Amino acid sequence: MSAPALELKNVTKRFGEKVAVDDLSLSIEPGTFLGFLGRNGAGKSTTLKMATALVEPTSGTITVLGHDLKHSSLEARRLMGVMPEDMALLELLTGAQYLRFVGRMYGLDDAQIDKRGAELFDTLDLRAGTRTLVADYSFGMKKKLALCAALIHGPRILFLDEPFEGIDAITNRTIKDILLTLQSKGVTLVLTSHILEVVEKLCPLIAIIDEGKLKGFGTLDQLKQGADSLESLFVSLVGGTPRGALSWL
Ligand SMILES: Nc1ncnc2c1ncn2[C@@H]1O[C@H](COP(=O)(O)OP(=O)(O)OP(=O)(O)O)[C@@H](O)[C@H]1O
Ligand SMILES: [Mg+2]
Repeated sequence: MSAPALELKNVTKRFGEKVAVDDLSLSIEPGTFLGFLGRNGAGKSTTLKMATALVEPTSGTITVLGHDLKHSSLEARRLMGVMPEDMALLELLTGAQYLRFVGRMYGLDDAQIDKRGAELFDTLDLRAGTRTLVADYSFGMKKKLALCAALIHGPRILFLDEPFEGIDAITNRTIKDILLTLQSKGVTLVLTSHILEVVEKLCPLIAIIDEGKLKGFGTLDQLKQGADSLESLFVSLVGGTPRGALSWL
């Protein structure tokens, strides 16, 4: 049997007093498409940052495609594509220069990078002047460039933190198509999103966390159990009540 694509065992992350991720354990098989849900501050991005070796867990172990991040994070990182929450792009480069920087780190040659970069820009409709610096990109353009960088080396596992945030409706469809194509090729996908319809449509497997703890993990059907929608399930699991009244308005 092949190693899990991603395995978290008793993973905890503390920031001072704050427990951002609390004894989280889960495992997914290669080729899975996992949607990660939770309220603001639930611990989704922290979990993704730990799974992509950007942040070290306080305790617990994480393996990605059989590589323990503590001992062989480089091997694991070669197999990953990552679009982190803050994107962390190098703003004083042009988009093409940035992709060269990222592509070279993955061992691609410049001709290969430029060819793939042009195809990515075209597919994602990323219309930036060849001399425009990333600093002058719009928010959505930066998001697209971050996705280009996550895809350029052909990852075996892709982690996307809020990939649809700030993306126009046309590109939204393109990205969904790209993700479904990757899934059909056996790539493992993990994304966070607050757009429940997106997760409902795209992700056969769903994890819901609240206050750093896993509240639900399974297929939509397994999780739903009587709830009429993912939204009502989500509300029942994380227990939030929408509020509307502000005292001065
Ligand atoms: N570097 C940090 N230092 C201190 N606290 C942090 C740090 N990073 C995250 N936290 C805290 O950990 C908790 C989880 O944050 P995280 O960013 O993982 O949430 P999230 O589920 O991604 O939320 P959102 O949906 O708003 O993106 C929050 O309370 C946050 O304030
Ligand atoms: Mg987040």
